[in-house]
Amino acid sequence: MQIDELYNLYNLIERHRKLYYEQDAPEISDSEYDNLVIKLKELEKKYPDSARKNFWDKVGGKTNELFAKVEHKTPMLSLDNVFNFDELKNFFNRVNVDNDFICEMKIDGLAVSLIYEDGIFIRGATRGDGHTGEDVTENLKMIKSLPLKIENKNFPRGIVEVRGEVLMNTKNFNELNKIRALNKQTLFANPRNAAAGTLRQLNKNIVAERNLDILIYYLVDAEKFGLNTQNDVLSWLNNFKFPVQSAFKYCKNLNDVENFIIQWQDEKNNLNYMTDGVVIKFNNISQWNNIGSTVHHPKWAVAYKYKSERVKTKLISVEFSVGRTGTITPVAILEPVQISGTVVQRASLHNAEYLAKIRIGDIVTVEKAGEIIPQIVDDDNIMKIPVKCPVCNSEVIKIPGESAYKCSNKFCPAILKESLKYFASRKCMDIKGLGNRLAAQLTESGKIKKLSDLYNLTLFDLTSLEKTGVKTAQKILNEIEKSKTRPLYALVAGLGINYIGIQTAELLMKNFKSLDELANADEKNLLKVKGIGKIAARSIHEFFNDQDNMKLIEDFKLIGFSENANNNNEAGILSGKLFVFTGKLNLMTREQAWEKVINLGGKISSSVSSKTDFLVVGGKAGAKLNKARELNIKIISEQEFINLIGGK
Ligand code: IVH
Repeated sequence: MQIDELYNLYNLIERHRKLYYEQDAPEISDSEYDNLVIKLKELEKKYPDSARKNFWDKVGGKTNELFAKVEHKTPMLSLDNVFNFDELKNFFNRVNVDNDFICEMKIDGLAVSLIYEDGIFIRGATRGDGHTGEDVTENLKMIKSLPLKIENKNFPRGIVEVRGEVLMNTKNFNELNKIRALNKQTLFANPRNAAAGTLRQLNKNIVAERNLDILIYYLVDAEKFGLNTQNDVLSWLNNFKFPVQSAFKYCKNLNDVENFIIQWQDEKNNLNYMTDGVVIKFNNISQWNNIGSTVHHPKWAVAYKYKSERVKTKLISVEFSVGRTGTITPVAILEPVQISGTVVQRASLHNAEYLAKIRIGDIVTVEKAGEIIPQIVDDDNIMKIPVKCPVCNSEVIKIPGESAYKCSNKFCPAILKESLKYFASRKCMDIKGLGNRLAAQLTESGKIKKLSDLYNLTLFDLTSLEKTGVKTAQKILNEIEKSKTRPLYALVAGLGINYIGIQTAELLMKNFKSLDELANADEKNLLKVKGIGKIAARSIHEFFNDQDNMKLIEDFKLIGFSENANNNNEAGILSGKLFVFTGKLNLMTREQAWEKVINLGGKISSSVSSKTDFLVVGGKAGAKLNKARELNIKIISEQEFINLIGGK
């Protein structure tokens, strides 16, 4: 399986390389491409025997037949990429380099080589495959910032080769695309694309019109000209009026490098050309040869790639635009979001595979990388139902025929909490005060492991929870007690049987007189109930076929939910009666006494008032006794209290 993926990735990357380097028409963003590369390199590590030899040696793409070919005497290499500081450190560690760097912005354009003879620009070429490029001299001559003749008399005689990046600045790029949109021409995906597409076509007037720029960063054989550092090269180039970017800095050590990278993370957005990272070069040119290169990249320099900004938003619709060549491009219409300082509501969606996976209303990831036109990217981390339940880590399963995914653990605390909330809700057992917070506390603390545990809660159970004082706890216990008088159908609804809401439950319990009757009914009998269909009948049957559910029903029967006209006699014998306790009790603790009162529907207060019904007096009674006498309140002993509650 994974080997298949390896082969597929080779083909995919090959295809995207061609689109990028040869056709100037990429279909995926640079960072999506980088992610494919990372994935493939991982797979190669895992299956070294299946890895394709020399695959990574390739630099750029084939040259276009329309141009004459130019051999590069010194090959034009690519750069290796790193994506975090650890990788950066490792890169230079391998060659024992840890200080003396030059950081420059990585210009997102098209690499070219320029040859000067006696100070006159005589030939320029694209990188091509690194060894052979395309002769684009005439086109390059149209770039205003490229010096055709070096006026400075100190410029070396003979052949001088410099290298740099042809680019289109963002302002020109935006204008160009605006005009193209008006003319109903296909838009360039990004400035690099526009620059490459412009330079690699035959009509030099178009090049002139489109205002390309160039920035130079490399002098071939610099040492021949007495230069020993990259820093000196940049000044030298600048001195002879070659356009050099000003966003560069000498960095003493990797710490300084990191700071430069961090500093330019945001500042790069203020440059008028696109960059997608930082190139870190070992400053000491005289060491470059010693450090060496692979066939693909130098070991004395590396590109740190910034993560492109990604934002999630909702897909509202998809429009299909038809380009000049008939190409149909899907355009995502989005709920507006801010990315890198602009509001985005349209994004190109030309990853066909991904297009097939998404639906209107989905949350999609929009990326604005080097591109001016944002893109929808296939974000692996998005909108996927996890394979493990986020709460209990059990397996997540998909019920055949249903669209929903479910946690497979029926004892999952999240399920229990939600079931408890539902059980206590107004239309079911109507237990006021048992909302989200309490349900979470009760299930998380393990005080409730199944719904019926609710009826075994003690005052102490509740007061031991955070933010639950005695008063609140009493109220809740009263509410729980009161819920015992709810009709049986409310309990049946509260069980949370799939497809059985309150109305269906009511229908059911009109036909079945007790929980047992309902539990014992087979599907046939259930179907006889008007309003109960096949799905509901099956669901009920399945519910009562489950041992744990049947245990729960037994619990409820013991609590007193059994018959339809259920009148629990014991519950409520102290209903509405207000008790105050004073002095030390001998036969039970204060808390046990309180609990009894509450379980039987009574209430507790800490002070005697005219509303008090009973003062229960233990040993060493104090002021409360006098007050009760004054107010003529019924005073009873501990034993009398026990008799009152049924002698238990
Ligand atoms: S130095 C041996 N400096 O990025 C390569 N390259 O992805 C030495 N690039 O091929 C290149 N900005 O076309 C260098 N400041 C910069 C650059 C830069 C952009 C390009 C260059 C290179 C490509 C690698």
